[in-house]
Amino acid sequence: MVSGEKFLLTTPLYYVNALPHMGHCYTTIAADCIARWRRKRGEDVYFVTGSDEHGQKLAEAAKNAGKDPQQFVDEMVLPFQKLWKDLHISYDYFVRTTQPEHIPVVQEVFRRVRDNGDIYQGRYSGWYCVFCETFLMENDLLEGNCPSCRRPVNFIQEENYFFRLSRHRNWLIQYIQEHPSLIQPESRRNEVLSRLENQEIRDLCISRKKFPWGVALPDDEEYSIYVWFDALLGYTTASGNGWAHARFQRYWPADLHLIGKDILWFHCAIWPAVLHSAGLPIPHQIFAHGFWTVGGEKMSKSKGNVLDPYDVMKEIGADGLRYFLLREIPFGLDGSISFDAMISRYNADLANDLGNLFHRSLPLFQRYFKGSVPVSGPRSAQENAFMELKGVVRTTVDEHLAQLKFKEALETIWKLVDFGNKYIDSEKPWDLAKQNPERLNTVCAHLWDNLRVLSILLEPFMPATMEELKKRLGAKPEWAKWESIEEFVSGPDALVTPGPPVFPRKEEKEEIPEVALQAEAGGEISIEEFAKMDLRVGQIVQATRVPGADKLLALRVNIGEEVRSLIAGIAPSYSPEELVGKKIVVVANLQPVKIRGIVSHGMLLAAGEKEVLGLVILDRDVPPGTKIR
Ligand code: MSP
Repeated sequence: MVSGEKFLLTTPLYYVNALPHMGHCYTTIAADCIARWRRKRGEDVYFVTGSDEHGQKLAEAAKNAGKDPQQFVDEMVLPFQKLWKDLHISYDYFVRTTQPEHIPVVQEVFRRVRDNGDIYQGRYSGWYCVFCETFLMENDLLEGNCPSCRRPVNFIQEENYFFRLSRHRNWLIQYIQEHPSLIQPESRRNEVLSRLENQEIRDLCISRKKFPWGVALPDDEEYSIYVWFDALLGYTTASGNGWAHARFQRYWPADLHLIGKDILWFHCAIWPAVLHSAGLPIPHQIFAHGFWTVGGEKMSKSKGNVLDPYDVMKEIGADGLRYFLLREIPFGLDGSISFDAMISRYNADLANDLGNLFHRSLPLFQRYFKGSVPVSGPRSAQENAFMELKGVVRTTVDEHLAQLKFKEALETIWKLVDFGNKYIDSEKPWDLAKQNPERLNTVCAHLWDNLRVLSILLEPFMPATMEELKKRLGAKPEWAKWESIEEFVSGPDALVTPGPPVFPRKEEKEEIPEVALQAEAGGEISIEEFAKMDLRVGQIVQATRVPGADKLLALRVNIGEEVRSLIAGIAPSYSPEELVGKKIVVVANLQPVKIRGIVSHGMLLAAGEKEVLGLVILDRDVPPGTKIR
């Protein structure tokens, strides 16, 4: 890492078939943190994100919405762009795979790979998962479904074009072995190597016959190019449309592709092989992080357990959300996410530790120095320890972030937060003001410097709040540079202005679903009114506790044509284990609500309260989905 060096980093190009969720936020926020940190260190960063807009999944989503695919993606890309703005994502380029410059890039690479003898025609006979846009063979399937998303798959039999991935197998193994940091973390590297070494490497089908929503295959109009071949090349389009482009020359190859573990094979085997075949340089690193799960399951729209980033932001702000995702679990591992966990983390670290430190410190400058920063007197052991700590923290944070260890970097920064709070507790500025004004000067000058350093170190993680704190500190731009962390800046002519808490405390309360049935019962209703209720037999297929909520259980209930996510306040009287398999009565046409950020679609019927609550259960084996009349 040298000042002025280029650094190209990317997030996946997300499918815009549905609204963005926390999973998408995760990769993008992590990438943003790295981009900001490297920029602060003087590197020439080029940060790319974007959208994957072709393929069957998009075409079907457009059809379901009754829209032309182009119109659909033009609309659906907007919420992504808005969310990135609201989360302060500092990307340099947003690439869309339907943008006109991208098409010739894909066709050119296709030609290059073909001219290199790596593309041939053959018959494809196998399965296709539309959701994952993946070709699958019979023995890949899991109980007849896609092994990754568990959805049903379609059988395809058609003449197609294939990419000779098998031919690149030995080269890939050797390349990965010679470049130990190419695939990270280590466990993912081993996963890819083991698949390459021990499993059959099939050639990859890279066309779709008579499927118009894609890049046309050069010289054969009957076909479009497979969406993954198209999408991966979006990374190069973003870096300059054409290999001779100055931006491409400057930035390619990518220094870091940040991805989730679901798309490891595409990035770590197919992508390097395609680039190799096309004679283009291979990226330096691909890092695959883990998944956020809700109640033990991957968060995904189809399971109805996605957390809406805007619901979270409403509670803890964009920076609270950014902080949680980067602080909660080691980057690379899976982690469980819940509204309560976010609030607890926010209250403990941001409202209490960090927020309090600023909130206690800033008024001191007004109270004792009319808003200015005093000149320090001689240092005691406390201040010497602080000066030393700053140096250690900076070096350690640099080391951690170079390895994408966000959690560890934040824990290190918290040493300065803890120092600041203990410093105030032990020095008691309010007593010093009466007894030792010179010492008060020294303490406040070092306190100010600590806050300044924190606002620099935390800017990549929580940019908007740190911007605000820098303003309140009256810090000039030259006092906000990464390399100034170890210096002692006592802020001459700074004007400190306290303000309201930047991280106000949130109440940690348990919400009980108090949906519907709040209207008072009584009075007669007509048969028509009753008929409006869609009561159905539902079978509980899964039950888990909602983390941090004593009374709530998250249920997955089969109601015939679908499996619904449903939150119920029945934990005091039922254990999750005893519920699975039970047939219950569900009000199926209740509007979905969000409880603790999880969608609950429907309601079960029960009588009683708390420990003496009984579920309405069917005493005969009526199939799930059956209407109750
Ligand atoms: N379009 C492809 C990527 C093409 S890249 C050339 C795609 N898109 S996606 O919209 O499905 O996004 C997948 C990515 O979203 C994952 O790799 C990960 O970065 C993020 N996540 C989606 N769900 C996630 C979780 N539940 N948890 C963490 N991240 C997840 O695949």
